[in-house]
Amino acid sequence: MSEVSLEKVVALCKRRGFIFPGSEIYGGIAGFWDYGPLGVELKNNIKREWWKTMVYGREDVVGIDAAIIMNPKVWEASGHTEAFTDPLVECKICHRRFRADHKAEVAKHEKEHGGKGEWTEPRTFNLLTEVYLGTTEPKQKAYLRGEITQGVFVNFRNVVGSARVKVPFGIAQIGKAFRNEITPGNFTYRSREFEQMELEYFIRPEEKEGKRVFDYWKEQRLGWYVSLGMKREKLRFREHAPDERAHYAKFAEDIEYQAPFGWSEFEGIHHRGDWDLGRHKLKYKDEETGKEYTPWVIETSGGIDRSALFFLLDAFSQEKERVVLRLSAKLAPYKVAVFPLVANKPELVKKAREIYEGLLGKMAVAWDERGNIGKRYFAQDEIGTPWCVTVDYQSLEEETVTVRDRDSMKQERVKMGKLAEWLRGKE
Ligand code: GAP
Repeated sequence: MSEVSLEKVVALCKRRGFIFPGSEIYGGIAGFWDYGPLGVELKNNIKREWWKTMVYGREDVVGIDAAIIMNPKVWEASGHTEAFTDPLVECKICHRRFRADHKAEVAKHEKEHGGKGEWTEPRTFNLLTEVYLGTTEPKQKAYLRGEITQGVFVNFRNVVGSARVKVPFGIAQIGKAFRNEITPGNFTYRSREFEQMELEYFIRPEEKEGKRVFDYWKEQRLGWYVSLGMKREKLRFREHAPDERAHYAKFAEDIEYQAPFGWSEFEGIHHRGDWDLGRHKLKYKDEETGKEYTPWVIETSGGIDRSALFFLLDAFSQEKERVVLRLSAKLAPYKVAVFPLVANKPELVKKAREIYEGLLGKMAVAWDERGNIGKRYFAQDEIGTPWCVTVDYQSLEEETVTVRDRDSMKQERVKMGKLAEWLRGKE
């Protein structure tokens, strides 16, 4: 089995329609990516599974969907206009810019100049992306949100007042965030537009409770990735050193994946204390005791694009000519593909179409009648389809089909009338 390389996965994503470079026909634009027909299914499946676990599966969590653009006062209060920064250095020889704290990238660049490094002094660079609103000058300056999180805090009072939640409780959200990254790179890993899936969990302001809830969510989140098939040995926690922590964090740990470009963060568990509610001057009133206080927040903040990339890297395997994405059936873009054994026998095609059309609307199903059956299996393996259904001559006599399993490559015969149930039972 060959090594997984980022290049192979990037090529597969382009070839099979998972991820394309943004604005490609105009030369692209650094840090922006478009998800194709299969990529959007993968991302939607990740989001649906997250929502199922974090919202539908719990009594103590409700969801929201806040606006991307907010009153700029939000970002002043949250500390982002002041402290949401990265250190930037510029190469004096070629004027390319890098993050001063990304030592490996800086060293790699110096090699391009024969080991010589001539850099400007580091200066702070704010990551918020500015936008201008309105038609009359001067236009109103606002920001695309740098994290989806603040939309939860500014709605804290609305949610408490409308959803009858009581501390401890959580507010979940999925949505786009934007960062004017200095050096986007490693495919979608560092983008300027990306999606986050976050839980802000509000607790009583007590050290012991903070530690307990933090540890609880850490394990829950790592377990979620493993439950969707990510290899445990490719995952680890990494605690942030005090000088790495974001301005809002009392304490933070990342979940990292062992990517081809090194151990890389894709979800953060953050103890935000009373930073945000405090800055927005928001309090919570305990109805039983009548006491008012500022709850603490434990946050789980995952990136959907990074998760999608790591699910793809983790699932990728190549055995000689055969490329297989061993994605969990819950995440695979198609659950099943349906084929007639051969395309030039109308009775087989008719029966296969009936089965295919019967599954449409029930689950994500693909149709293929090109080439020979072996080629069709390989084409489905490469995009992670867990099961392929073939209608053959026996099907016409017995009302059964062949179901071939992606991972074991074994085949079994299933009654046509029971096929949808059989497939649902396999998830
Ligand atoms: N609300 C907290 C917060 O935003 P973060 O650690 O800055 O925390 C959380 O971001 C997650 O968002 C990261 O773990 C990552 O998965 C994703 N993310 C952050 N910046 C990203 C970028 N430039 N490109 C893609 N994903 C990014």
